[in-house]
Amino acid sequence: MRHLLSTRELARDEAIELLDIAEDMARVQDREVKKLPTLRGKTVVNLFFEDSTRTRISFEAAAKRLSADVINFSAKGSSVSKGESLKDTAQTLAAIGADGVVIRHGASGAPQVLAHSGWIDAGVINAGDGTHEHPTQALLDAFTLRRRIHGAGASRGRDLDGVRVVIVGDVLHSRVARSNVWLLHTLGAKVDLVAPPTLLPVDTSAWPARIGYDLDEAVDSAPDAVMMLRIQQERMHGGFFPNSREYARAWGLDDERFRRLPADTMVMHPGPMNRGLEISAAAADSAQSSVLEQVANGVSVRMAALYLLLAGEEGAR
Ligand code: NCD
Repeated sequence: MRHLLSTRELARDEAIELLDIAEDMARVQDREVKKLPTLRGKTVVNLFFEDSTRTRISFEAAAKRLSADVINFSAKGSSVSKGESLKDTAQTLAAIGADGVVIRHGASGAPQVLAHSGWIDAGVINAGDGTHEHPTQALLDAFTLRRRIHGAGASRGRDLDGVRVVIVGDVLHSRVARSNVWLLHTLGAKVDLVAPPTLLPVDTSAWPARIGYDLDEAVDSAPDAVMMLRIQQERMHGGFFPNSREYARAWGLDDERFRRLPADTMVMHPGPMNRGLEISAAAADSAQSSVLEQVANGVSVRMAALYLLLAGEEGAR
């Protein structure tokens, strides 16, 4: 694997290989010394043009646990805020010898540009581009689902055949939803998208997912997982729903809906959560919630991605 830019172009076998390597990495996380020498001497740059908590520290932890040198670069406080272009930034990173670049950018397609530009010869991982994709988030979600459904010890080599996932909320602005729709489909899961019509893309006819508008119906259909999406205020310029209370009442996983869910339905959220808006505190903090498990698994999955991109032949298992 040269780059990891989207899940849409990820084949089933590639996805499963990555998830299986993440299982190995997860075992390392359980050890007292959580470090492998695999990427010693390699340099990974975290290039973040948009805010992030989980994704950035997760990539940093992942690279460090593989013994890479890590450079964290956030656009705030850099020459980017002086108007430096992506090209100049990329050439600067090339000049300092970056082997891998993890990029988050507000513009959909920026990681593809970086990967195919010729400005830099590094492996590129998309850590979220605009409203387009966020492949490592979908992979960590799939990893979390696979472990809960098959068990950590019995997950290896398995896909998500027949698993039913309902993705709820601000699909329109969500790169997490897009990456999940493609990957879950590739892994054999059935995806339902449930949202107000104003928060769905105009044309979803090419998406391998069913569209619905009724969260109560979705809850009563007893899915294996409900994945709640954050309302992305920062990407909204206009009225997409009347007000927060209305949204929570119609589209939120509130206490009442949460109680109606079967006891083994997973409650997922990529974070950061708007508690009380798309998800109630009781649902978020319940035993059914996998929110923190998703964060922990993110490190293993990102270790696997960095390994596949940067370890090369000499790092073979
Ligand atoms: C997501 C993102 O930035 O796309 N967060 C994350 O990476 N954990 C989802 C979001 O911001 O709502």
